[in-house]
Amino acid sequence: MVLTKKNYSYMTEITKTVEWCALKDHFEKMKSTHMRDLFSDDSKRFEKNHILFDDLLFDFSKNRITEETKKLLISLAKTADIENWRKRLFSGDKINFTENRSALHIALRNRSNDPIMVDGKDVMPLVNAELSKIKKLSKDVRSGSWKGYSGEKITSIVNIGIGGSDLGPSMVCEALKPFGSKEITPHFVSNVDAADLSQVLDVCDPETTLFIIASKTFTTQETMTNAFSARDWFINKAKKNEFIKKHFVAISSNSDAVIEFGIHPENIFVLWDWVGGRYSLWSSIGLSIAIFIGMKNFEELLEGGHEADNHFIAEPMEKNIPIMMALIGVWYINFFDFSSYAILPYDQCLTKLPAYLQQADMESNGKFIGRDNKRVCLKTGPILWGEAGTNGQHAFYQLLHQGTEIVPCDFVMPVNSNYSLEDDKNKHHQILQANFIAQTQSLMTGKSVIDVQNEMRDVIKNDQTLRRLVSHRMFEGNRPSNSILFKSLTPRSLGRLVALYEHKIFTQGIIWNINSFDQWGVEYGKQIAKLVLPELESKKDTKAFDSSTNNLINYINNTA
Ligand code: F6P
Repeated sequence: MVLTKKNYSYMTEITKTVEWCALKDHFEKMKSTHMRDLFSDDSKRFEKNHILFDDLLFDFSKNRITEETKKLLISLAKTADIENWRKRLFSGDKINFTENRSALHIALRNRSNDPIMVDGKDVMPLVNAELSKIKKLSKDVRSGSWKGYSGEKITSIVNIGIGGSDLGPSMVCEALKPFGSKEITPHFVSNVDAADLSQVLDVCDPETTLFIIASKTFTTQETMTNAFSARDWFINKAKKNEFIKKHFVAISSNSDAVIEFGIHPENIFVLWDWVGGRYSLWSSIGLSIAIFIGMKNFEELLEGGHEADNHFIAEPMEKNIPIMMALIGVWYINFFDFSSYAILPYDQCLTKLPAYLQQADMESNGKFIGRDNKRVCLKTGPILWGEAGTNGQHAFYQLLHQGTEIVPCDFVMPVNSNYSLEDDKNKHHQILQANFIAQTQSLMTGKSVIDVQNEMRDVIKNDQTLRRLVSHRMFEGNRPSNSILFKSLTPRSLGRLVALYEHKIFTQGIIWNINSFDQWGVEYGKQIAKLVLPELESKKDTKAFDSSTNNLINYINNTA
């Protein structure tokens, strides 16, 4: 049965709606359409396929879409009830139903301060109180009025956390290094591998180091192991437990566990169950950001996020960046069957953006169970990866240009760099920009056999050799990309960018009818690790698991 809006109640059945069927028919026409032709047939293609949001330009014209595609995709979004879900997200509805929680990261950057209710209570006073605490600590540490146990100023901050309690702050501190304090060095320790913590401790002085233990649950094995080791290292040097107060703060929703760890109650920064880990950089999890770039800049980051929220709420679908990004993604994943998705920032400072978005997207939408508790009948989240340009060009772009897998890409670049070499006569930034443009262009147009022949004819005279080499040197093109440009990388522009991606992820989750805010898949791995650990501690051969797992454990036990 083809479902219409009226009789369509289970979102997992979206593939049976008239809108989906229309897209399927349309795909049959589009699958062999070349973007080269779409551009040559319409001189206004760029005008029709870009969105300007303040100084941010989202150019989506280099995609395998027409006006008809957009119309059909927007109808699909309406059928999926995006507008209503968006309202539910912003009004604090418990849309994370498997954990009975709201997903209210938007409250953390709600600069309008309009009330947002959870269980009948406005959360804004809580958010504001926490922001005041962040402001005070960041000010004290930056000004030097917060002193270590020997009376020295803090010069190193070490954020110990993992996943959302690490990736956001470390990505932002890297991106906004030019805005950072010259006197305070931020470090991020996430991996339970002792190499991670050891390398940081090697360059830190206990007298001038502030540890920030960032863990919403305060039970995460990796974080707690690193936190205990950091505390041991500190006590070993400082000698007195009472000095912990000057050198350890925590961000957690589990105050009891923090106090038990030995952190003074005054040094606890809270977050709430309605803040998901991968959406938490806007919360007190951003403490390291606020200390490094200062509260004013941290607030600018929040402002940028808030502006993107307003854009997402107010703009009609065809002018709405997250919605168009999401729909184009659905078009590729579900109709073209392109499973992969690359984030390619052309700015060295955004080098951690792909890893950050990898968690945001894959932990949110890597799900096969729908909101109706049934297995979804379509592909969900993309495999997201990437690398800063131009490094990626000399590594995996070969596959982007000529591989059998087509990978839709987002090219991201600030027009102005925050770095300049004195009298940059070697034109670093222009070369970077030229490469950005060249890649988006060549992926789209490709290079025809004729063009290759003409190019080679002067060099290779032998016709047989020429024929043999042409196929290796031709490019089919028709490889899609979005280009995202903005004036400069600032706290505000970064806040906008990150929040736009968050809403893109949310929109796709709604279309696929999944809960983007839980992460049971990660929990399962944690559970099994707890069963394996005693087997390794026992140092004895095990028969507890399957033969591969047993033998891996036994190999480790016998080889150590
Ligand atoms: O990786 C799974 C996860 O639950 C993430 O969602 C979260 O960001 C991370 O672990 C860290 O959790 P916590 O902040 O509770 O230590």
